Amino acid sequence: MIPTSSSEAGAPFRHLLSIDQLSVEQIEQILATADSFREVGTRTIKKVPILRGRTVCNLFFEPSTRTRISFELAAKRLSADVINFTAGAKTSMSKGESFKDTALTLQAMGVDAIVMRHSSSGAPQRLSQWVQAGVINAGDGSHEHPTQALLDLYSMRERFSSLAGLKVGIVGDILHSRVARSNIKALKKMGASVVAVGPPTLMPGSIAGWGAEFSSDLDTVLPELDVVYLLRVQTERQSEQFVPTIREYARFWGLDRSRAQLLKPGALIMHPGPINRGVEIGSDMADLERSIIADQVTNGIAVRAAVLYLMLGPEDAPSTTETDLGSKLQEAPEPAPGSAFNPTSPTGGANGRRLADAPSVREQLERQGVIRE
Ligand code: CP
Repeated sequence: MIPTSSSEAGAPFRHLLSIDQLSVEQIEQILATADSFREVGTRTIKKVPILRGRTVCNLFFEPSTRTRISFELAAKRLSADVINFTAGAKTSMSKGESFKDTALTLQAMGVDAIVMRHSSSGAPQRLSQWVQAGVINAGDGSHEHPTQALLDLYSMRERFSSLAGLKVGIVGDILHSRVARSNIKALKKMGASVVAVGPPTLMPGSIAGWGAEFSSDLDTVLPELDVVYLLRVQTERQSEQFVPTIREYARFWGLDRSRAQLLKPGALIMHPGPINRGVEIGSDMADLERSIIADQVTNGIAVRAAVLYLMLGPEDAPSTTETDLGSKLQEAPEPAPGSAFNPTSPTGGANGRRLADAPSVREQLERQGVIRE
């Protein structure tokens, strides 16, 4: 069973393995916390000291661009140390070391959180049974991708006043999509309705049990939607031919220019990435003003920072409120021995000097005689 609470006081969850484990209140807490980190991401110095001394390991057994880099950036912005483990020829797994022994080795090195992607559904849950570290599911097979769903909720909520009452169409390879599973669960919890659209061969037989409507007729569904959420056609997970050709898929289920015109004003286009231009999305549709694909990527850093903070934050972590967290984000770190100025603190460091009072790089170099006026 997935643990939903931490033995450590203050942490609202010990692992994040599935949207199933999160209550509506916990989802609200993550989104509210992400607001604060979104603001940190707009600063010139995008770094706060709240996870200093903690170590996050990205353990990736499958390719990733967005998720791995955004977890790395999120952890670094919170001042955690980050190690990246990408399974392959350069690790001892290529010498026969098992997944479990690899995990126990990381454990022995004292990592505090492991962010894991794996092609097998359930692998992060298995890992969570072996290690003391918090485990975050960064995508497991066709099962779940909870932080993707959370950043998608955050991105929708940025544009609409509430998630409740929205109608979201998730289009494509529903059968193999962990993003679809996590998003349907999360959107339903938050009061949105979901219609899954795609070829009947890529629609799970159990879709009615997921609480989503389903259709194979995209043109009929599009005018009803507040959000059309396109999925990548995952040829790597398809062991048989589910659609005759990619061209046929694009013709019936791709969002081209004429289909995009069926959307109502204000409706958004979303995609978890990576996008296949010309397949599920017309080559210029991703660049329309109503497309928020780039915002999803930006918001992913803030949402993942919120997850890491709520999982690893200090024992006096604020329970939920932005105000509490806001004061933490202004808090100056202890100065490193011998250092008079800490540029990672918004206040310039515990010595109370403000950034504006600090000598410029030019002034410092002049003082050292490296350059002259
Ligand atoms: N959306 C997503 O998971 O992208 P990556 O595979 O690049 O991480």
